[in-house]
Amino acid sequence: MKTYKIGVMGGDGTGPEVTVEAVKVMEAACAKFGFKVEQTEYDFGGERYKRTGETLPDSAISEFKKQDAILLGAIGHPDVAPGILEKGILLKARFALDQYINLRPVRLFPGVETPLKGKGPKEIDYVVVRENSGDIYTGSGGLMMKDTPHEVATQTAVYTRFQVDRCLKYAFEYARKHGKKARGVGEENTLGLVGKTNVLTFLYDLWERAFHEMGKKDYPDIRRDYYHVDATCMWMVKSPEWFDVLVTGNLFGDIITDLGAITQGGMGIAAGGNINPEGVSMFEPIGGSAPKYTGKGVINPLAAICAMQMMLETLGEQTAAERIDVAVRFVTANKLKSLAAKQMGYTTSEVGDMVAELVAE
Ligand code: IPM
Ligand code: MN
Repeated sequence: MKTYKIGVMGGDGTGPEVTVEAVKVMEAACAKFGFKVEQTEYDFGGERYKRTGETLPDSAISEFKKQDAILLGAIGHPDVAPGILEKGILLKARFALDQYINLRPVRLFPGVETPLKGKGPKEIDYVVVRENSGDIYTGSGGLMMKDTPHEVATQTAVYTRFQVDRCLKYAFEYARKHGKKARGVGEENTLGLVGKTNVLTFLYDLWERAFHEMGKKDYPDIRRDYYHVDATCMWMVKSPEWFDVLVTGNLFGDIITDLGAITQGGMGIAAGGNINPEGVSMFEPIGGSAPKYTGKGVINPLAAICAMQMMLETLGEQTAAERIDVAVRFVTANKLKSLAAKQMGYTTSEVGDMVAELVAE
């Protein structure tokens, strides 16, 4: 029987509550579809940092490298200054495991309310491929003459051709396999580059040249579009149905996927994968640790369940992943009153039970 080694890092706040539900659904899928999972739990997060001063040690990275995938709950603690856990745990894992893709679907599920007037699941159905290893996230910078009137702050965005090319290759391949034509819901598979070539004339010039070169040579079957990032925000609200697969740099990808998440019903449902196509990937709900709801059993676990669903899909458990997708859609369409914490009409574990039972059926 195929066995996967999965590292589960619940993290802070409500993170552990939602990963428990995701694991519950995963176990139902194991029983139903005939594969096995060996879990290892990791307690890295704010509490451990407060106790020991440790964020994510190198020994943990070595252990992560032995797993087939990692499931993450949430990172962020109200008593820890911003940046410490984010950089020390989340970004450290992304960079150390070279998870150079951040795959973030923007899909409105049936029965879910979107703030976009007149739009439904048919219109809100695209994917953002966010580059996850470079940009302003890893560039050089610093403060000079701090706390003087002459203080200077710099933080540089850096992209190498290598980083851009490997991300574009993933995005083109993804568009070919999962684009709107491939899924039978559109005429073409389209990859849209999101940039800012009118101002970032070095950074996105590199992206744009690389994009068209690769597209012309290796992916003539895929339609290529280009959008400035600011206009993209506008179209994400006005005409999301235009989009199929979007690819962009790390910072723009961070920003536009929060906008995307709210159009798909918010943090209760938005999930993403930090993917190293040749290595160990890490899947996470996009929402935060929601400390005020910790331990109350009111947080929505569907985003974590969707993250786990993406994990199984990436591992190659296609049938199980499809079954979980159908189950989640059934629950949003027929059961939940709202996706928001406290307003679901069910507790966190009841939602997990419903999805697990549907998967097991
Ligand atoms: C995200 C988050 C992170 C990011 C932060 C917490 C470092 O906003 O996953 O989108 O900027 O990538
Ligand atoms: Mn973000």
